[in-house]
Amino acid sequence: MAKGSFFDQIGIIGGGQMAEALIRGFLEKEMFFPKNILVSEPLKERRQYLEEFYNVKTTEDNKKVVEERNLILLAVKPQVMGKVLDEIKDKINPKKHLILTIAAGLPLSFYEKRLPQRTKIVRIMPNTCALVHKSISAISKGPYVEEEEVSFVEKLFSVVGEVIKVEESYMDAVTALSGSGPAYVSLFLEALIDAGVRCGLPRGISEKLALSTLEGTIEMIKKTKKNPYEIKAMVTSPGGTTITALEEFYKKGFPGIVIKAVKKAYERGKELSQLLEEK
Ligand SMILES: NC(=O)c1ccc[n+]([C@@H]2O[C@H](COP(=O)([O-])OP(=O)(O)OC[C@H]3O[C@@H](n4cnc5c(N)ncnc54)[C@H](OP(=O)(O)O)[C@@H]3O)[C@@H](O)[C@H]2O)c1
Repeated sequence: MAKGSFFDQIGIIGGGQMAEALIRGFLEKEMFFPKNILVSEPLKERRQYLEEFYNVKTTEDNKKVVEERNLILLAVKPQVMGKVLDEIKDKINPKKHLILTIAAGLPLSFYEKRLPQRTKIVRIMPNTCALVHKSISAISKGPYVEEEEVSFVEKLFSVVGEVIKVEESYMDAVTALSGSGPAYVSLFLEALIDAGVRCGLPRGISEKLALSTLEGTIEMIKKTKKNPYEIKAMVTSPGGTTITALEEFYKKGFPGIVIKAVKKAYERGKELSQLLEEK
């Protein structure tokens, strides 16, 4: 078993962005030898790139991946997942295979309906920060997965950042918060940069100040274990500039907007899961 892991080989179906981030992490952390990673991917140029750059094996045949590997990572878009499951279902042996999926919005029941009974499935929701190994990945296991297998999956996904175990019923909320989160944070950052420019700063300086302030604040919250309220209070002197800005945020309902927006994403996620489930 490569590097003392539960499985020494992995098959990945879909060789896109997320798959690549994970492959990079697996190789950097020596979770698998390159030749033990088999990726199926329809695009020839993409297969060539993965082979040349990472030295992994590739194929265009999804069934081959399931025939040759016991640990399978499904890394295709949710819209094509039904088709992929139809293709591979006859090759799945519930006693042998452990199926991992990172598709957003598809509940475990989606796979359970389409794969043989008692198939072991783990659902993982990483975020795009996986590309720089700063993801937070939430994981939920299906009923037939053993605890030691979950621990193994936690270790696997720790190559792209932090991992947290959650009940599956939380997954739509996770998607709305940390799945979409990088977009919310980027929007706030963009506005903050524009605000600096509005106050007369050159854009480059404004960008540096905004990014660094965000990074520093997060680091401070993590290291001091103070909550965001306490950090806010630390910066807010009586009658000063910060409280004047905060007053404006509150007047315009900023916290309420954030809550409502994330709740909308949560509801939309549920709606989309329902639509995919019915397909
Ligand atoms: N990116 C994120 O931030 C993020 C975060 C959380 C979860 N996820 C989930 O991760 C999964 C992959 O996302 P991604 O961003 O990596 O997408 P992506 O870059 O589009 O990767 C999907 C890959 O699957 C390939 N593919 C398409 N049809 C296939 C088939 N029938 N059999 C095998 N491979 C097939 C695609 O090839 P072609 O390009 O040739 O179509 C593409 O290379 C999605 O389910 C997404 O919901 C992504």
